[in-house]
Amino acid sequence: MQSTIVNITLTGSSYPIIINDSCFDLTSVKEILAGRKVALISNDKVAPLYIEGVSKELSKYCSGVFPHILADGEEYKNLDSWRGILDFLADNNINRSDILVSLGGGVVCDITGFAAASWMRGVEFIQIPTSLLAQVDASVGGKTGINHPKGKNLIGAFHQPKAVIINTATLKTLPSREFKSGLGETVKYAFINKPKFKKWLGENSDRINQQDLPTLTEMIAQCCEFKAEIVQQDEKELGVRALLNLGHTFAHAIETFTKYKEYTHGEAVAIGIAMAAELSVIMEKSNQRLIDNVRALMAKFELQDTIPKSINPEKLVELMRLDKKVKGNTHRLILMKDIGESYIQTNVCEKDILQAIENCQS
Ligand SMILES: NC(=O)c1ccc[n+]([C@@H]2O[C@H](COP(=O)([O-])OP(=O)(O)OC[C@H]3O[C@@H](n4cnc5c(N)ncnc54)[C@H](O)[C@@H]3O)[C@@H](O)[C@H]2O)c1
Ligand SMILES: [Zn+2]
Repeated sequence: MQSTIVNITLTGSSYPIIINDSCFDLTSVKEILAGRKVALISNDKVAPLYIEGVSKELSKYCSGVFPHILADGEEYKNLDSWRGILDFLADNNINRSDILVSLGGGVVCDITGFAAASWMRGVEFIQIPTSLLAQVDASVGGKTGINHPKGKNLIGAFHQPKAVIINTATLKTLPSREFKSGLGETVKYAFINKPKFKKWLGENSDRINQQDLPTLTEMIAQCCEFKAEIVQQDEKELGVRALLNLGHTFAHAIETFTKYKEYTHGEAVAIGIAMAAELSVIMEKSNQRLIDNVRALMAKFELQDTIPKSINPEKLVELMRLDKKVKGNTHRLILMKDIGESYIQTNVCEKDILQAIENCQS
């Protein structure tokens, strides 16, 4: 198949997202790789599956591939792993004229990007995302970072990649729960500002659930376009980019409350979107039709839209207070006026948030 290319055009940097359903298509980045050393960062789950193939492709154009393998898991997206990468770059004399390449899910993409942002005050990097979540979201847009013991993604930088290379065939080896997690992040675009995408998702849900590759490839390309559109308007999240956080303040509280053990990020986001819909209705910004639509789409992808009664709503609100988006004593949240019409709501009171959470308990 010929690759689909989505371009991101920013003031300081522009780059292509190259999407193919059968190979890692590096043809349009060969000039970027020419004559440079590549530090290829992956993890011990993805490397055995794909590092050989990717190294072979990279070696056609670059002067040498230097692999560095991290332990798999969000808990390794930390200062120690980041330092390990920097030590590795130092040991192998990777300098400003060389380049980093990530190969893995969102964790590997985020930490590789942050190592690239910080090494020698910023070196170039290419993302090769292999999870659905990373292909529709994490690898695109230049947010890079690691976790601090006090919280997720507290350390980081905006640093745009030189290219994103997506081979959707990698999804065949992705565990099904991780696939579903990626869908949680996929459906958010429909509710943010793409009502037509909601229709498309509804019509194609069977093929998506069966992981039909041409359908997934089309879906991923659309998500990359949606994210590119928003990032182009607001690279540093001073305004409209915040809409990408739809459902996320609820989701982060759910993830923290359950100590990151019960829900994947995408599963928590799906529940968070349902809570945002409830809140939109409680605040009389929308009507029951919105909630019904949100729940119907989640059901098509077997995404949960409720939490059990064992999760204390008051505790969730308390955790939401710690979120970056709280101003004074009231909350700032992304809500929806309709499907595909999300907006930033300030001055949200805790009583209404509590009610929205309770409406999503079963
Ligand atoms: N930078 C951003 O804009 C952004 C946006 C969203 C999420 N994120 C970050 O992304 C991370 C979550 O990403 P994720 O959901 O991809 O998690 P992940 O990177 O932990 O990947 C999920 C699991 O799937 C494995 N995996 C990945 N690709 C595979 C494949 N093709 N075959 C088999 N196994 C595979 C991983 O090794 C891991 O075990 C979080 O740290 C989150 O903060 C960043
Ligand atoms: Zn997310």
